Amino acid sequence: MENLYLGIETSCDDTACALYSNKRGVVVHRTAAQLVHEKYGGVVPEIASRSHMRALLPLYELVMKKGGIGLKDLSGICVTNGPGLTGSLLVGLSFAKGLSYGSGVPLTGVHHLEGHILANDLEENFRTPCLALVVSGGHTQLVYVKEIGQYEFLGGTRDDAAGEAFDKIGKLLGLSYPGGPAVEKSAESGDPEAFDFPRGLKNSGECDYSFSGLKTAVRIKIESLGELSTTLVSDIAASAQEAIVDVLIRKAVIAVGRKDVHRFYLAGGVAANGRLRELAGERLGPLGIDVYWPESKYCTDNAAMIACAGMYRIESGKTDNIELNTFSRGELESWR
Ligand SMILES: Nc1ncnc2c1ncn2[C@@H]1O[C@H](COP(=O)(O)OP(=O)(O)OP(=O)(O)O)[C@@H](O)[C@H]1O
Ligand SMILES: [Mg+2]
Repeated sequence: MENLYLGIETSCDDTACALYSNKRGVVVHRTAAQLVHEKYGGVVPEIASRSHMRALLPLYELVMKKGGIGLKDLSGICVTNGPGLTGSLLVGLSFAKGLSYGSGVPLTGVHHLEGHILANDLEENFRTPCLALVVSGGHTQLVYVKEIGQYEFLGGTRDDAAGEAFDKIGKLLGLSYPGGPAVEKSAESGDPEAFDFPRGLKNSGECDYSFSGLKTAVRIKIESLGELSTTLVSDIAASAQEAIVDVLIRKAVIAVGRKDVHRFYLAGGVAANGRLRELAGERLGPLGIDVYWPESKYCTDNAAMIACAGMYRIESGKTDNIELNTFSRGELESWR
């Protein structure tokens, strides 16, 4: 029998709705990006919440219309309830609660990072046990996935997230927002060995990361160079990207040595980075590890991944009620 799940994602600055089928996979997914934040160079929480308020209902109506179904046809309503910006999360959660309360369709709260990991299940089958590297705007962590729903935190960043480092470096270089895709684009014509930027905690022997020193080193280098030519911008972008990606994969190599796994999944917005994908394959392939990543459109925030993760929760009896609350921080491992 076909079961259809509605996904709702409002944890940061993207309003997203999707329908996911246990038989057909992603039926329809739509994301309304909030471009308004570009002029501030970062997400302004109150503007984000108000934008979700305006965008969510029309987006939901569009997705249901495209899917050709009504609320009562759903087998579950799956909503991100954390981690993220509280005001933003509350918009999606309140909306989802209203739908569930009014219709009797089961509700489940989804951890945003579980959604990012299960974006790998949207086009290909996600298989466990495996390791996942979640690299996004707010998180950088290595996770052992024993099975869907059972996560062990192996290590993460002590300060900035990898995506945040990309964004800050993009801003220092005067590139467009968000910085990640812009740095990658600029790096295409740059020399990754032009500058030897620091790889934080490179020799710690642990699965931990630090990106704040890199950001400072890039700032000092830019200040010392004065006026930047396009070539210099590209060289800095390529060298900084190499520093981030190199250390991400160094620690991944440590993680695979600790767990008996043959699969490694990239997840989160930075998983869209071509150099990260390439280096992961180059260094993990010879260790007998197959490397996977979601299609780029499912790397950054979307609701299809939330509907998919919610489907697994509902199918294993994990539903929530009207008491469900948001949380702004919290690891997968300790989650409920
Ligand atoms: N091609 C790319 N190369 C590097 N970074 C990228 C690329 N594409 C997107 N990013 C980065 O991914 C991040 C956005 O990813 P995502 O939407 O998963 O983050 P988020 O939802 O804001 O954070 P979190 O998931 O931790 O709450 C941004 O920091 C962006 O710069
Ligand atoms: Mg995200």
